[in-house]
Amino acid sequence: GLVDKEGHRHFMAKEIHEQPEVIAHTISRYVDPAEMTVRLPKGAFDFKKLDRLTISACGTAYYAGLVSKYWFEKWARLPIEIDVASELRYRDVPWTKNGGALFISQSGETADTLAALREACANGQQIAAVVNVAESSIAREADVIFPMTAGPEIGVASTKAFTCQLVSLACIAIAAGRERGTLSAEEEKELVGGLLEIPRLVAEALKQSDKIEAIARDIAKATGVFYIGRGVSYPMALEGALKLKEISYIHAEGYAAGELKHGPIALIDENLPIAVIAPMDAHFEKTVSNMQEVMARDGKALLISCKDGIAAAGARAWASIETPKTHPMLAPVVYAVPVQLLAYFTATTKGTDVDQPRNLAKSVTVE
Ligand code: G6P
Repeated sequence: GLVDKEGHRHFMAKEIHEQPEVIAHTISRYVDPAEMTVRLPKGAFDFKKLDRLTISACGTAYYAGLVSKYWFEKWARLPIEIDVASELRYRDVPWTKNGGALFISQSGETADTLAALREACANGQQIAAVVNVAESSIAREADVIFPMTAGPEIGVASTKAFTCQLVSLACIAIAAGRERGTLSAEEEKELVGGLLEIPRLVAEALKQSDKIEAIARDIAKATGVFYIGRGVSYPMALEGALKLKEISYIHAEGYAAGELKHGPIALIDENLPIAVIAPMDAHFEKTVSNMQEVMARDGKALLISCKDGIAAAGARAWASIETPKTHPMLAPVVYAVPVQLLAYFTATTKGTDVDQPRNLAKSVTVE
């Protein structure tokens, strides 16, 4: 057929491995490598005038949006409202006068996301969308489309669309910062430099496959798995838990690392491993201390960090996965890889139908 697995056991594996290429392609739609600047399509938001940006999506696309909230706030000092589309569409949102609304969807056909878009449009918001399918309903109804070029995604669990959404959103947030005068030319250069390294770092992260497969053999026996992270790694904890439950059917929860002590820590025991997403950023020490609280209660901690992070904190962890060092704010794009592989190999160990998990659909066109 038009799309095949190209030697991979599943579409999901193929799509995970395509990421260096499709991410590079998506970045090339935004970045001017000679100038080390970002450019957006014509008619994109007038970021200077925006008084708020509302972001909405479903599932994995929503978690991409949640990562971008940290970017828009930090780089563009732009107030962000974010919610899953199935809630946003029925909330009585006090829309602002000069608001923009950004919708993220791989398929461009998710019913709740489309309905939230129409609601925002009816309330005078400027509408933009990050979509993978250019001829989709969401693409048609948006005022402006921000490109992502992941290519067709067949596996029900989203992988390459997620990382391409992330790099698109990073570029939009950088441009927003430049236009609003909150990000200097030097800072833009540094971030663009970080972005241009990502395809190589993602390829590097994929080399941990065998090690992750071995760890997944143990995870497959767990009664449940927690994922924790702080800052941009918090949405990654949510995405990690979603990926695992979608395809391995193991109960998983993502938590903000600092919130663990307010309840979920009561569940920790040797049958409930906890994946700690801890790039070496400003939150590293704090996240590690949350990991130590888990270990003090006989919890099995799986530390996902860079070489230095593992050297600093991995000694008593149950296991660790090494991830290449990245620009700290851009870490989610690279940390997506171990998160995806862990879910994938846990599912293949259990023998579930990875590409067509039970009860799930690739695109949910009903409410
Ligand atoms: C379904 C899929 C998810 C996806 C979500 C949003 O639930 O199973 O993988 O993240 O829809 O899809 P969209 O096409 O709007 O990104």
